[in-house]
Amino acid sequence: MNKISAAITAVGAYVPEFVLTNQILATMVDTNDEWITSRTGIKERRILKDPGKGSSFMAVKAAQDLLSKNNLDPKEIDLVIVATATPDMPVASTAVYTATQIGATNAFAYDLVAACSSFLYGMSTAASYIESGRYKKVLLIGADKMSSIIDYTDRTTCIIFGDGAGAVLFEPNQEGLGLQDEYLRSDGIGREFLKIDAGGSILPASEETVANRQHYVFQDGRTVFKFAVSNMADVSAKIMERNELSRDDVDYLIAHQANKRIIDATAKRMELDEEKVLMNIHRYGNTTSATLPLLMSDYETKLKKGDNIVFAAFGGGFTWGSIYLKWAYNS
Ligand code: UT7
Repeated sequence: MNKISAAITAVGAYVPEFVLTNQILATMVDTNDEWITSRTGIKERRILKDPGKGSSFMAVKAAQDLLSKNNLDPKEIDLVIVATATPDMPVASTAVYTATQIGATNAFAYDLVAACSSFLYGMSTAASYIESGRYKKVLLIGADKMSSIIDYTDRTTCIIFGDGAGAVLFEPNQEGLGLQDEYLRSDGIGREFLKIDAGGSILPASEETVANRQHYVFQDGRTVFKFAVSNMADVSAKIMERNELSRDDVDYLIAHQANKRIIDATAKRMELDEEKVLMNIHRYGNTTSATLPLLMSDYETKLKKGDNIVFAAFGGGFTWGSIYLKWAYNS
């Protein structure tokens, strides 16, 4: 019998309706379209405006999109993982609520939190359950309501992030398609450069932390940029080398959408032509855990069975890595 590999067999997505353009941001903070476009590649991002709705709202929508497009019965799902940096609330899992909302009544569920690498790490986790033969259908969702943790008076962060969600289904494959290799890294030196100071066990919420705006994302952009550029390129080059993939063998790069300049640097290191580099940062900004599945959803019709795809991400922590996957279907 052939070895079981873990293939992505379905994709779904959801972005909220409200479009926050660079022009609108320029009325809120001291910035302009030219600066944002040239420094990041972002033109607009989506924002979940509805009060009282969190990341699970978008996770449910993305999962429902996947289920309805593929006519799948949610009762067949064994496990739901929600990759997120913005869970609905502490303690009560976003994934558990999401699984119940979509009718995945036979599944167990949990959240996976690793900043902008949450979805990439989630791909590794989901694939491992499939490869071991333990489960047959693992639903991995990346969902983030970044607008809930962004300070819209801070021009260095508020221009970057947006809200959204995407979902993929992992299933066993015996044709050798799906996840081929991974190279995942992390380094705690990154903690001080990209974080939320308050609201965790080190500094619980108090009147003072609220007054000091410590519940919003802090980022030392320049330092994070430096690490992101070199590390994302390094791991992508490494996964190519390890799997003896030439630039011609790679069909697509699906990279975390944090800054177009970081993605371009990675593509350059891989010597890839522009059309192989999937991009939607101009439309959504950095949606943290949702960037990779949103790319798969936007470009689903382009991806063909057997295509060699390199995934790459870099995020807070620091966390980063790359995955080599063979696409398993034509849509
Ligand atoms: O997804 C998780 C990982 N995160 C990332 O990968 C993000 C990594 N970092 C970045 O993408 C970039 O560092 C930023 C987009 C955040 C910033 O771009 P930069 O080219 O690194 O700009 P900078 O921070 O070096 O700032 C350059 C100048 C500064 O002014 P001075 O000191 O040169 O006078 C900033 O004050 O641009 C100024 N600036 C702005 N100007 C207009 C900073 N933000 C803005 C803004 N509009 N929004």
